[in-house]
Amino acid sequence: MGLRQEQLGGHMAAAVTGLDLNDQLDEPTQATLIEALHTNLVLCIRGQSLAPVPFRNAMARFGTPMLRKQLAQTTECAEVNIISSEDRDELGDGRKLVNGASWHTDDSFMRAPCSLTMLYGVVVPSSGGDTQFINMYAAYDDLPAETRARIDKLKVVHKYESSRRTGRVAKRPKAEMAAMPEAIHPLVRTHPETGRKALYLNPNRMEQVAGLDRVESDKLLDALIAHAIQPKYQYRHVWQQGDVVIWDNRCTMHKANADYPAGERRLMHRVIVAGTEPF
Ligand code: SIN
Repeated sequence: MGLRQEQLGGHMAAAVTGLDLNDQLDEPTQATLIEALHTNLVLCIRGQSLAPVPFRNAMARFGTPMLRKQLAQTTECAEVNIISSEDRDELGDGRKLVNGASWHTDDSFMRAPCSLTMLYGVVVPSSGGDTQFINMYAAYDDLPAETRARIDKLKVVHKYESSRRTGRVAKRPKAEMAAMPEAIHPLVRTHPETGRKALYLNPNRMEQVAGLDRVESDKLLDALIAHAIQPKYQYRHVWQQGDVVIWDNRCTMHKANADYPAGERRLMHRVIVAGTEPF
């Protein structure tokens, strides 16, 4: 059975079928997947059945898997994190925590944020639990020329617990927080592989635009977020059991939805791969 590709959203996202990520993919197939990801920003590989180690190994063909302690890790493989309907804010108030429930790009509180995230639908609810994505190239391209000229060289301070955050973030131990100092990133980043410019926003992690006072900074960030989250830039992924969805954090934002029927389980395994400092 050969590789088949179909378009999912109008302006982003594609799905491929006809491959098993447990197998060693040949070079042309791997190159096709990377090309499809660069063109579509979000790539879904359907119909997988992957234990944590093979999942990690398959994702290592896209980059170097990284450890993240902010999420639970599988016992079989520390680089495979768990995102589950059972997640709780263990070190905080102990309440249920929906990881990634508001718009974000992964890891922007790090100096060199991960480039790609891979999420594997291990248990998918009967309805709901979709992941939404935003095309940040399109959001940037559509800005008026004078806005692009104004923001092109601006930089933004990002931190794990930004004072602007609207969504809940899990409490982390003091030592871990100390290892996550502020990071300063461009507001418009150039994708190192496609050469395209994208708005680089993370509503939950951005603290302030460098060089602007707080009021001016908040006004600009709020306006850019409101622009970027318009439905016309969005794609909504409805999960099928066995989907592996790969997205490019350098040109997208995403968010999880916890709107599935009460009592149903949603279990995802996640791998992220290393990125470079944004420029
Ligand atoms: C995430 O933000 O990485 C999780 C997305 C999801 O669970 O749909």
